[in-house]
Amino acid sequence: MTDHHETRAHARPDAYSQISPHRSLHVMTWGCQMNAYDSGRMEDVLRPLGFRSATGPDADLVILNTCHIRERAAEKLFSELGRLRTLKEARDGAMTIVVAGCVAQAEGTEILTRAPFVDLVIGSQSYHRLPELLARRARTGVPVIETDFPAEQKFELLPKDQASQGPVAFLAIQEGCNKFCTFCVVPYTRGEEQSRPAAAILAEARLLVTKGAREIALLGQNVNAWHGEAPSGGQWSLARLLAELAEIPDLARLRYTTSHPRDMRMELIAAHRDNPKLLPFLHLPVQSGSDGILKAMNRRHDTRLFRRIVDDLRAARPDIALSSDFIVGYPGETDADFEETMNLVRETRFALAYSFKFSPRPGTPAASAENQVPESVKDARLQELQALLRDQQHAFNDAQVGRHFDVLFTGSGRHPGQIAGRSPYLQPVIVADQKIGPGTIHEVTITAANPNSLMANIVGGAITGPALTHEQEHKAA
Ligand code: SAH
Ligand code: SF4
Ligand code: F3S
Repeated sequence: MTDHHETRAHARPDAYSQISPHRSLHVMTWGCQMNAYDSGRMEDVLRPLGFRSATGPDADLVILNTCHIRERAAEKLFSELGRLRTLKEARDGAMTIVVAGCVAQAEGTEILTRAPFVDLVIGSQSYHRLPELLARRARTGVPVIETDFPAEQKFELLPKDQASQGPVAFLAIQEGCNKFCTFCVVPYTRGEEQSRPAAAILAEARLLVTKGAREIALLGQNVNAWHGEAPSGGQWSLARLLAELAEIPDLARLRYTTSHPRDMRMELIAAHRDNPKLLPFLHLPVQSGSDGILKAMNRRHDTRLFRRIVDDLRAARPDIALSSDFIVGYPGETDADFEETMNLVRETRFALAYSFKFSPRPGTPAASAENQVPESVKDARLQELQALLRDQQHAFNDAQVGRHFDVLFTGSGRHPGQIAGRSPYLQPVIVADQKIGPGTIHEVTITAANPNSLMANIVGGAITGPALTHEQEHKAA
């Protein structure tokens, strides 16, 4: 408790009530792209208060934007907090520490009990209120916890302006999940599914494009469940929203992530044929190739539905590349179940995939199941699956050699003189040519494939696009 009192003694009552030009901010982010988007938006909220990004954690305000999806989330947070505590003590308490994101939502008061030097614990739904909550903390000298799910829509209350995200920008259109897969914390940490209104999304997309975005990735925990209020009443589907976004002249590429098989409607599949700006890439988590396990997981889809979607997608867009998520060692998973997962992977052929050992999450039904799979079995299955997925990724990359396609260049490569961009399948593409500016799109020929990237030569001139401002180039690099 001593820390608690020391921290109180150093609270400055006026700390957040006036605008100062020189306050440093450091945001650390774990987890999914939605969390990364949230971190950017938190910076947008704090910029009018005079906060500017610091280069390291020794800053006036430090925000830890946390993820709770798999094990060791809390340990990672507390070890980071241990480091920050030393820095805060060295600054004589003049550091405000905020724990945000999904661990904040899930653990709440527990964080203050274990780390009383934390100033504010704020869930993912309330960060539009950061200025007010920081002011309350400064005024009262008492740490603040805000983990309610407010009725208002956070995204519509954030500042309209936002910093450039560079040529590839993220835009949250949907948040939360009503699916309650038995292993997953997201429905608890992010709350119920909510779709943002189409007009707000279109306005944000146009703004991002004026700030240099050529590709926009629409984000949501179940992004294809999006069904939002249309600008002139009624509702739009995601396919309709994508069609409207495709009308933005300087926007060249669109994608959306993460989708759930259950919400993969025919109209959306058809958009992969009809919408020329929609990238031929889809991340569609399947988790397992065993129907018994999918049922136990409460996934609300079976392997038949997944296979049908894959067939329909490939019929609509023959060059579409697929990526997915897998969990091995879900409670009760037998060797035969696992073999069905391997078979589904062999048959489907993924360009990319993420695979995880089942991690029992506090408060989820699967965590208390009795038939947990031993760690050594999970390890062996993960290795086997990852070897297969790696082979498929390499085969997919190798198959690009000799092909021509458009690459969106985003910044410098790892070596001097190189510039890096992304293929329509999101693979990093490296070109040895300094003259290409970030945000431009060029046709290339792929000359070689590495395990995680492609090498290319430019074959065409720039496919029109606005030049980036100095600030945007800086951000992109
Ligand atoms: N909304 C997406 C994914 C959300 S979480 C979907 O419905 O698929 C991202 C991935 O983390 C999941 O697809 C799953 O593969 C993995 N994951 C989630 N909870 C997990 C757990 N308890 N153990 C292991 N992996 C998990
Ligand atoms: Fe989690 Fe399932 Fe919702 Fe995806 S659909 S966020 S895995 S509960
Ligand atoms: Fe993690 Fe929360 Fe995203 S738990 S994966 S940061 S929704």
